[in-house]
Amino acid sequence: MTVYDVIDAKKNGRALGAEEVGYFVNEVAQGGASDAQIAAFCMAVLLNGMTDEECFALTRAMAESGARTPRPAEGVFADKHSTGGVSDSTTLVLVPVLAALGVPCAKYSGRGLGHTGGTLDKLESFPGLTVSLSPERFARQVREVGAAVAGQTADTVPADKRMYAVRDVTATVDSIPLIASSVMSKKLASFADVILLDVKYGGGAFMHTPKRAEKLARLMVSIGEAAGRRMCAAVTCMDAPLGDAVGCNAEAREACEVLAGKQNDLSRLSLFHASKLAAAVLRIPEEEALRRAEEAVGSGAAREKFAQMVAAQGGDARYVYEPQRFSVAPCAHEVRAAADGFLNIDALALGRACVEMGGGRKREGDAVDHTCAILLKRRPGVQVRAGELLAEVCCNAAAPAAFALADGAFTLSPRRRVRPLVYAYIGKSGRA
Ligand code: URA
Repeated sequence: MTVYDVIDAKKNGRALGAEEVGYFVNEVAQGGASDAQIAAFCMAVLLNGMTDEECFALTRAMAESGARTPRPAEGVFADKHSTGGVSDSTTLVLVPVLAALGVPCAKYSGRGLGHTGGTLDKLESFPGLTVSLSPERFARQVREVGAAVAGQTADTVPADKRMYAVRDVTATVDSIPLIASSVMSKKLASFADVILLDVKYGGGAFMHTPKRAEKLARLMVSIGEAAGRRMCAAVTCMDAPLGDAVGCNAEAREACEVLAGKQNDLSRLSLFHASKLAAAVLRIPEEEALRRAEEAVGSGAAREKFAQMVAAQGGDARYVYEPQRFSVAPCAHEVRAAADGFLNIDALALGRACVEMGGGRKREGDAVDHTCAILLKRRPGVQVRAGELLAEVCCNAAAPAAFALADGAFTLSPRRRVRPLVYAYIGKSGRA
């Protein structure tokens, strides 16, 4: 068997056996397959699809391509994974809320890539905070604080690292079997017992329709369940940014405001996720879990937990209580309504605008300007009048391409066009 044979078989639409998939993934992880061969394989999968059995085999082989992440402590661990969005800081809210409820959160997160933001970058907005925690320090923090969020080490799922980097530049990200195996290989290589997948649909997501997002969610749930994990998934809207801020410092600031009681779609979705996970781990009814999650925010317990976590990772915890400390670049461009109408906001365009200003990465390893931001002044679906201020674009140098993207992101329609924030929830008893 050669790498060429496997690519040729997939190109011709043949379902691969577990042995062929395992061989290919091993060659990817060990460097025996070139980037060109990985790209050809991914394009063949994108165009011809995979059976569920092939996708299960691909996920297993990828999960086994590197070191397993050790369980940091005794207990039942919860995890949430989003397929990627704009202004989605739910992890920064959800982790302290769960920890305040006594649900230990030991989370490995990623960096922003493409138009989507990354939890690690937002956490690094806290001066001094490190996301590079040794396994021992990570485990100690989980035992002492009940919450830790860090980056995965280089030897975790190396096959996914190579495949994702190639997919990102060869237009092969938006394939259901490739996303499912990428996400779930990282989950299977880790220790979480209860996993909630937030599968995004809409203009700012890899899956544009809710039906396709639901198909992806079901496939990932079945992969996790086959591996003995307790799984649930929410299919949620990413037509517009989830919160009111795009950009690292502004999003970290907003997460602290939500922990102080600010209410918007970001707070609603974070508490929705927290209640599903808390109900599953603590084995309590979901209404009770939601009530406790709301109480953890209302009482300040979740905010205190977040401050403890930030401090344990070397960050300045004063920012948690005084979010105005986060610096945001001056407003360099205002977006105003061109006419009367109901507002639509395009998350993809705003994510790209933020990258264009330097607030995100064009390539892995690029430096990020944490102070760049787009601040929404009006929410999608509201009725606005011509000339009203819709958003401020904040950056440190003129960025005409970003300003044009931001201008184009705000459109008006004669009728309200807002799709549901939570389209479907797939739990133990099926779709809700
Ligand atoms: N997130 C991942 O981890 N992998 C994908 O392929 C897409 C989103």
